[in-house]
Amino acid sequence: MEIIILDSAARLAEKGAEVFSDAARQTVADRGRFAVAISGGSTPRAMHRLLTEEPYLSTVPWSKVHLFWVDERLVPEKDPASNYGAARQDFLDHLPIPPEQVHPMTLSDSPQSAASAYHKQLHGFFNRPEDGFPVFDQIFLGIGTDGHTASIFPKDRGAVNTDYWVQAVKGGKPDVHRLTLTAPVINRARSVVFLVAGSGKAEVVKQVLADATPVLPATWIQPVEGRLLWLLDRAAAVLLAKNSRKSESQSD
Ligand code: 6PG
Repeated sequence: MEIIILDSAARLAEKGAEVFSDAARQTVADRGRFAVAISGGSTPRAMHRLLTEEPYLSTVPWSKVHLFWVDERLVPEKDPASNYGAARQDFLDHLPIPPEQVHPMTLSDSPQSAASAYHKQLHGFFNRPEDGFPVFDQIFLGIGTDGHTASIFPKDRGAVNTDYWVQAVKGGKPDVHRLTLTAPVINRARSVVFLVAGSGKAEVVKQVLADATPVLPATWIQPVEGRLLWLLDRAAAVLLAKNSRKSESQSD
């Protein structure tokens, strides 16, 4: 695991965009496509907006990017709570990603049927590896003050050991029906990147990174073979001991 502390939320967004761009270019060079899943919430929005600007607009191989969601609130796209709606506003409508390569989690007649529909989408895209889970090239995550990540909440202990790839849950803020990728899918990714900003997250960051509190879902994110990178701004990292982190000046 690598922890990089950025001087500000703005630098965090820039670093996140750099990490996205570097992974996209390297992955497309190696494998011809880049399958990435993004989270909702407020933290990643500044990074998403940066991706529509130079140098990312012209250096990311957008025609080979396949975009998925880590989780979604099952609300209409126009609802301010919609992760897809926010992503369209922030970057998707401003980027040359072929529409058929954007895979939102969509409403259906029930949360369960929405979950199985998304499972089918994933199954159609990923060649099923031997251990039965899709392997994303990169997954971006946030963390809630309660230690949830994706839409995996502390009460959802079952989301850790499951064969499901996508689950229908209810909870969070807003407390609505949601879809979420499960922990086993997230843990198969080649790269998992947490983006965390603000003093409001300092306590939960300490609980996860310093105390490894087992009941917090963010603690359950331990990639099987992939890289785990925590990008924190100074405010979110303030309770971490000096020796457990690498500041931006030391980062590669
Ligand atoms: C969601 C997100 C969720 C988010 C955290 C942090 O759809 O709610 O995926 O897991 O990452 O709640 O949200 P903020 O970035 O708004 O603090």
